[in-house]
Amino acid sequence: MTDTTFAPALLSGKRILITGGGTGLGRGVARHLVEHGAEVHLWGRRDAVLAEAAAEASTSRPGAAHYQTVDVRDYDSVDATMDRIWNDHGPLTGVINNAAANFIAQTKDLSPRAFQAITSTVMNGSFHTTHAAGKRWIAGGLPGSVLSTLTTWVWTGSAFVVPSAMAKAAVHAMTMSLAVEWAKYGIRVNALAPGPIPTDYAWEMLNPTDKSSVGATQVDQIPAGRSGTIEELANLTMFLLSDACDYLTGQTIAMDGGQMLAGPGTFAGLTSLTDADWQQIKETSKSASES
Ligand code: HXC
Repeated sequence: MTDTTFAPALLSGKRILITGGGTGLGRGVARHLVEHGAEVHLWGRRDAVLAEAAAEASTSRPGAAHYQTVDVRDYDSVDATMDRIWNDHGPLTGVINNAAANFIAQTKDLSPRAFQAITSTVMNGSFHTTHAAGKRWIAGGLPGSVLSTLTTWVWTGSAFVVPSAMAKAAVHAMTMSLAVEWAKYGIRVNALAPGPIPTDYAWEMLNPTDKSSVGATQVDQIPAGRSGTIEELANLTMFLLSDACDYLTGQTIAMDGGQMLAGPGTFAGLTSLTDADWQQIKETSKSASES
C-alpha cells in the first residue's frame, strides 16, 4: 500500500467503472481505488493492455480489478457491457469518464474524420457511459456518482486542440445539467480538470517539439513550480467518489497548480511554430499513438 491520507476502507463496498482504464491517468488511479477498498472495472479497446492494467491494479487485493473490452463510441456495446457488470458483479456505484482521444494539430488541417475521432470518444463516449449507468441507478432506486476527467480548457478554450476543448466543454455542460436533473435520485455528477500529470502519451503530446520555449509542461509556467502527480489526482478522485462529500455536485474542479489562472490555453505558446514544425509534430504524434 502506498502512503495515503485516507482510511484504507474509504471506498469499501464501492464498484467503480473507469473508462480508458488501460492506460494513462485512468490506469494510474485504479490501483489507489483498489487499495482503498473499491472493486474496479476497466474499459478500453485493447484486451491485452486492459489485462495488464487490471493485474497491476489488483496487486494489493487480487480479484478486485476486472476489465471489459468496449469502445465507448458505440452505445449498444456500452449498454450491453453495463448489463454484464450489473448481472455478473452487481450495480456500479460510480463511473469515471476518463476515456479520451486527442492530438495537437492546426485546426485548418483537421479532417472531418479526425474531428469525429476525438469528439465521439470524449463527448459521445461520456454521455453513453453516464446514460447507461444513470438509467440503471434511477430504475433501481440506487444512488450513484459520475466523475469526468476534463481540462481547464472548458473555461479558456485551447488553441491547437480545438475538438478536444469543444468536446470537454460539452461534458462540462453535461456535468452541470445532470447534477440538477438527477440530484433527486441521489446521483452526483462532478468533474476534475487536472493540469499536466506525467503519463507516456500525454507527455509526448504536450511537448511536441524539441523547442524548449513551447509545450505545456514547462514548470516555470505553473505557479506551483511542478507538475501534478497521480497520487494527488487519486486523492481528489477518491474523495469525490466517497460518501464524504454527498452534498457536492455539478462542479468541475481544477487541480493544476494554478496554471490556468497564470496564463491562457495550454498550447498558446505554439502559435510561433512553422508549418514544417507542424508536419514533424503530426508524424511524431501519430507514431506515439500507435505505440
Ligand atoms: C493529424 C491525425 C493524427 C495526428 C490521427 N489523425 N492522428 N491527424 N494529426 N496526430 C487523423 C487520421 O489521419 C484520421 O483522419 C483520423 O484522425 C482518425 O484517425 P484513426 O487513427 O483512424 O482514429 P482512431 O483509431 O479512432 O484513433 C483516435 C486517435 C488516437 C485520437 C487518433 O490517437 C487515439 O485513439 N488515442 C487514444 C488515446 C488518447 O488520445 N489519449 C489522449 C489523452 S491525453 P483521416 O481523414 O486521415 O482518415 C490528453 C492530455 C491532456 O488529452 C492534457 C491536459 C493538460
